[in-house]
Amino acid sequence: MSTSLTVLHPKGGVGRSTTVYMLGAELALRGHRVALIDRDQGQHLSRIWQVYPLDIPGLDLGDNEDVDLRIIDTAPEVDSARALGYLREADWALVPVKGPEAGSVLALPLLMEWLDQANGARLIGFLPTMHHVRRAESKQWMAELHKLASAYGVRVFPPVGNLSTLAAYRLDGHPYAPVAEAIEHTLVTTPSVATPA
Ligand SMILES: Nc1ncnc2c1ncn2[C@@H]1O[C@H](COP(=O)(O)OP(=O)(O)OP(=O)(O)O)[C@@H](O)[C@H]1O
Ligand SMILES: [Mg+2]
Repeated sequence: MSTSLTVLHPKGGVGRSTTVYMLGAELALRGHRVALIDRDQGQHLSRIWQVYPLDIPGLDLGDNEDVDLRIIDTAPEVDSARALGYLREADWALVPVKGPEAGSVLALPLLMEWLDQANGARLIGFLPTMHHVRRAESKQWMAELHKLASAYGVRVFPPVGNLSTLAAYRLDGHPYAPVAEAIEHTLVTTPSVATPA
């Protein structure tokens, strides 16, 4: 039985599909068998995959159970019933937080309510995406994100920079490496919640 990780946030355009694609690539390059699953009716990930398929052994798009990890891309949700469905089918949830900026941070209490109600997926952490290091707004909302995360006892991963700016290019590794390492740790230490104890 594979472990599953759902990538979700109530808002659109926060970096869910990019996270699924890049994180899947990083984990497959580390030797894990990974299935990317597109649960967004907008099918953005599937369309990107058609044009830019990744030729990495062990990585594929499709609802395949025979893998180590299933990474699930989701649609932006204001509908709590569907959000709860995503959270009940997964062992883990990863939450990309664009910016951080006001809209993506202020939606998090709603998401925490869903997690609580679903009583399914465990939250692996908040992942700031499209981060502008020098922007005052990012600094302010990064501080708010950390406050909220510590109130809920949630980890905040090192941010993925805004890769459309040259200044964001890192020389010290793949931007998704810290998340990939955390997930590798859960793969080793945590049995799937779908597996009876
Ligand atoms: N780190 C990044 N740096 C720069 N641009 C990014 C980054 N991550 C994502 N983007 C861009 O931001 C846009 C939204 O990203 P993405 O499609 O991954 O978000 P999403 O949450 O899946 O959106 P949707 O609601 O459309 O499903 C895309 O154009 C994507 O290329
Ligand atoms: Mg998407």
